[in-house]
Amino acid sequence: MIVLFGKIKDYKKIKNKVEVEFENKKVNIVVINDYIVNVFVPMKDANYNSYAIENDNVNKMKFEVINKEKKIIVKTEQISAHIYDNCKIDFYNKNNQIICKDYRGKREPFIRRTDNAIVEEEGQKLTKDIKKQPVEIMKENFGDEKFYGLGDKTGHLNKKNYRYEMWNTDDPTPHVESFETLYKTIPFLITLRDQFSYGLFFDNTYRSFFDMGKENTNYFYYGAEGGDINYYFIYGPEVKNVIKNYNKLTGTTPLPQLWTLGHQQSRFSYDSEKRVREIAEKFREKEIPCDAIHLDIDYMDGYRIFTWDKKKFPNLKKLVNELHEDGFKVVTIIDPGIKKDSGYKIFNDCLENGYYITDKDGIPYVNEVWPGECIYPDFTNSECRNWWGNNHNNLINLGIDGIWNDMNEPASFNGPLPDNVKFKNGGKPILHKEAHNIYGHLMSKSTYKGLKAITGKRPFVITRACYAGSQKYSTVWTGDNQSLWEHLRMSLPMLMNLGISGFSFSGTDIGGFGFDTTPELLTRWYQANLFAPLYRNHSSQGTRDQEPWAFDNKTEKIIKKFIDLRYQLIPYIYDLIKESEDSGLPVIRPLFLQYQDDQNTYNLNDQYLVGENILMAPVVSQGEKNKKVYLPDDEWIDYWTGEEYNSKQFIIKNAPIDIVPMYIKKGSIIPNYKKQNFIGENQIDNIILDIYPGNGEYMHYQDDGETFNYKDGEYNLYKFVQKEYLDRFELDLVVEYQKYEKVYKKTTLIFNSLNINKIEVNGKEVEYTFKKNSVFLALNSIKEEKIVFYK
Ligand code: GLC
Repeated sequence: MIVLFGKIKDYKKIKNKVEVEFENKKVNIVVINDYIVNVFVPMKDANYNSYAIENDNVNKMKFEVINKEKKIIVKTEQISAHIYDNCKIDFYNKNNQIICKDYRGKREPFIRRTDNAIVEEEGQKLTKDIKKQPVEIMKENFGDEKFYGLGDKTGHLNKKNYRYEMWNTDDPTPHVESFETLYKTIPFLITLRDQFSYGLFFDNTYRSFFDMGKENTNYFYYGAEGGDINYYFIYGPEVKNVIKNYNKLTGTTPLPQLWTLGHQQSRFSYDSEKRVREIAEKFREKEIPCDAIHLDIDYMDGYRIFTWDKKKFPNLKKLVNELHEDGFKVVTIIDPGIKKDSGYKIFNDCLENGYYITDKDGIPYVNEVWPGECIYPDFTNSECRNWWGNNHNNLINLGIDGIWNDMNEPASFNGPLPDNVKFKNGGKPILHKEAHNIYGHLMSKSTYKGLKAITGKRPFVITRACYAGSQKYSTVWTGDNQSLWEHLRMSLPMLMNLGISGFSFSGTDIGGFGFDTTPELLTRWYQANLFAPLYRNHSSQGTRDQEPWAFDNKTEKIIKKFIDLRYQLIPYIYDLIKESEDSGLPVIRPLFLQYQDDQNTYNLNDQYLVGENILMAPVVSQGEKNKKVYLPDDEWIDYWTGEEYNSKQFIIKNAPIDIVPMYIKKGSIIPNYKKQNFIGENQIDNIILDIYPGNGEYMHYQDDGETFNYKDGEYNLYKFVQKEYLDRFELDLVVEYQKYEKVYKKTTLIFNSLNINKIEVNGKEVEYTFKKNSVFLALNSIKEEKIVFYK
């Protein structure tokens, strides 16, 4: 740390806080719970107001403070922080193992031998010289660290030896692994060591930096250009526990409306009623499931937000109505820039009320975005946020179902916003350098609150820029990728790292946004992102068509097969999102989350788990037909062939273009619905249980998929348990909780085994059929059932 703290002079325990007085500075050590300790050094503000953490009801905690020779120890049931002179802090677990240690040496950047002028002349980007930051925290590298999280950063799953920057950035050039910054600021780092893991959440909104041993392998560090030293040490020892506790701090991804998990179609832009109708008709004619069509910026009147072009969309309300009748939802884009135009209501309202950000002299700040010159709303002002939220009224009256927030880094075409642009921030003004990284966060929060107040339904908001904690308000996508195999490959570590950084509901532009996709790339993208909660095909203007039918019949058929499969598995994805809301665990998971002791999982960039039961190993290289797959410590069943595999082995799976390597854990029970063209096409009366014989249990959740009534208890919970014995399998179907009225009327069991001679339901022998490699059995509904499958 650059601050000179000096020697420890004294300390005071005040409720959950230990105030440690050093010669030159006071430091707060706050115990949040047994696993989380906050270190706060006021440098800018005496009190810290977090944008990420809104729930500040820290429970009263029991912990000890021990003053021992030259150190102070703050000790909870699980961890202890040892605080030394100069504010060096080391964290131990209850077994007295050192988990995380402040680095005592100085920064010693790696050596660069180069002639900068030549490098620049060649047009290469120079890595900036190492600069001391006013806020800097250095930790020792023990050598066994693997680093994960940090949101949407490019590159690989494991961030060891890389450096990243947190400054929300819209850079349209192809995102490659040397990019240090992208659209999002999620300063949450997960460190996995050989025997345990911990997280560091650096809650600082200024431009910040994370260096995981790139500068020098002896240490890793994080720092910022301003603000306070304010970080949370979060102990595992399981990575799952780190993630759960991080979500306790910043909030979990809420349960969305069910349709938002359906397939969505977008393009920059479907720019007329005619074109939108054509797209909708094609989906239904071809029976390719689709739930939403997105209207990108060209639906607007001269890019004026909250308006629409009456020539291209003469009767938007009627169009939306027709689309609704056909089972489509409509999502419109809303950017923050407000066109400078004295004949435009939103501009005038913003000006009259002073809801804009200003230059240093208090004059509305102007820069250019799509509409030309624009002013920017000040989302740090709660009145502006309310006004913004209410502006969605018109769109909702037209029937619009979701809002897509873009360009909210904020992006600007005429040079970056200067550091000294001013934001009101509830009477405590802040400058752009502090507000930049929370602009998208506050915009999506305002959109979420507006939609919730107007519709009463679970809002569907998508945002490009965000901060830690935005998951409470919005889903995210990874911005302007390109139709490059490299970007398909990168979509997997991105989705996994976003997931473990709090953003369970995320997705990438399927097929790639910029550049022209190919039939093979589009197909592999639909397969690879099959379980990305946001499943949206989107592409840029001027690129070739990329709807599922844009190529040949064979490509269309294969893509349809996977979209159909997605719809079949919607209840499984929904169950997982409910789990995200309850615990913070993501839908898409890196394998080490489940198999933390298995070194083979630490750098697996191209495989993911969907919950605990499905393992995906998508093909992400052109022409590849044989995929190397790692199967971790469980028994796995090939979804396509039914073959069983033992654990902990690498296999080669033959994966022609119509196959994505997909494995189900033995003992799994996966809920399925019958394929539909859109969610809600049919009232779901029938739950299909796809059962992979073995030992296992599964909890299935059901509600109206739309309102907040589930918060008042209107939902159903079913527990399915299966056990294997020498001569039989037993399956118990139990209704755990039932307050949602539309219960399933039928249950279909698909028992994936041919080795069955007799089946009994509640002691009575029943008829069943064989189909392919499975036994089919239809039951009336789920009450309490005991089913025995005799071998
Ligand atoms: C940005 C968005 C992209 C959108 C385009 C036009 O580039 O990232 O998704 O299509 O703007 O609105």
